[in-house]
Amino acid sequence: MAQPYIVRVSSQKGGVGKTTISVNLAIILKQLGYSVLLVDADYINPVVAMHLGLEEVSSGFRAVMKGRARLQNVTTIHPSTGLHILCGEISQKQFEPSYESIVRFTRMLEKTKYDFIVIDTPPGFSKEVFVDISEALIVMTPDMQATTSAIRSSQVFDKYHIRHSLVVNRVRSRAFELSPREIESAYGSRVDAMFPEDDVVPMSIAAHIPAFLYRKRSPFSKAMLDFSRLYSARTEQKESGLPAGGGFVAWLLGLFRRR
Ligand SMILES: Nc1ncnc2c1ncn2[C@@H]1O[C@H](COP(=O)(O)OP(=O)(O)OP(=O)(O)O)[C@@H](O)[C@H]1O
Ligand SMILES: [Mg+2]
Repeated sequence: MAQPYIVRVSSQKGGVGKTTISVNLAIILKQLGYSVLLVDADYINPVVAMHLGLEEVSSGFRAVMKGRARLQNVTTIHPSTGLHILCGEISQKQFEPSYESIVRFTRMLEKTKYDFIVIDTPPGFSKEVFVDISEALIVMTPDMQATTSAIRSSQVFDKYHIRHSLVVNRVRSRAFELSPREIESAYGSRVDAMFPEDDVVPMSIAAHIPAFLYRKRSPFSKAMLDFSRLYSARTEQKESGLPAGGGFVAWLLGLFRRR
């Protein structure tokens, strides 16, 4: 790929599964053979390192944003997969990156050789929404509050012409949940993936191993793998290596093609 495909994982509502999905998407894309950088841009509560057992890493996103370190010098390599990670720093000192530093950072990311860059973000919206990314992945849970937040998110992304897709996490298929059809009708667009509620997720977080590596055959891991395979379809260079590309894959490629 000429430029990396930059995916910002976001939600207005907190605790819906952004970090879990970012980490597992990045790990699976890496295992599918792509070069991947995972960025912990959650400057409020950075926990990507904890999900990956890299708690000892002390420098990363904040240092790069402040111009104190170069990306390649503070990128950590996940030992068992080779995934590259720009970790966040846990600090008592408050930090919010400036709009200018976010623009600079995105331009820097665009010049890297990665196939995919997955960015985990804090809940809500801040200035980074305006920055040119390839796509925003909106995460929600199947309830009314999360749907309302997802609709607001999509409106903001629409306003700034940022391509976005929607995934629903922690699905238990219970009567009190919103069904995919109800979500699609309220949201006005299709749901791109559903990830089930799965005890393997908290178990894997407690073990500091991403769910996909912790238990590959768990319902959550399988759903993540299916979704990540569709993501990989967006890497034009590797199209030939994809499973048979019928109308659906063509539709997906069109849907996610860089603006
Ligand atoms: N599919 C799932 N099944 C079961 N538990 C899940 C699932 N997805 C996430 N969780 C749990 O939900 C909690 C929140 O997940 P996560 O930290 O990924 O959300 P987040 O959106 O990144 O939160 P924040 O907005 O605080 O950054 C975690 O404790 C995790 O174990
Ligand atoms: Mg998070």
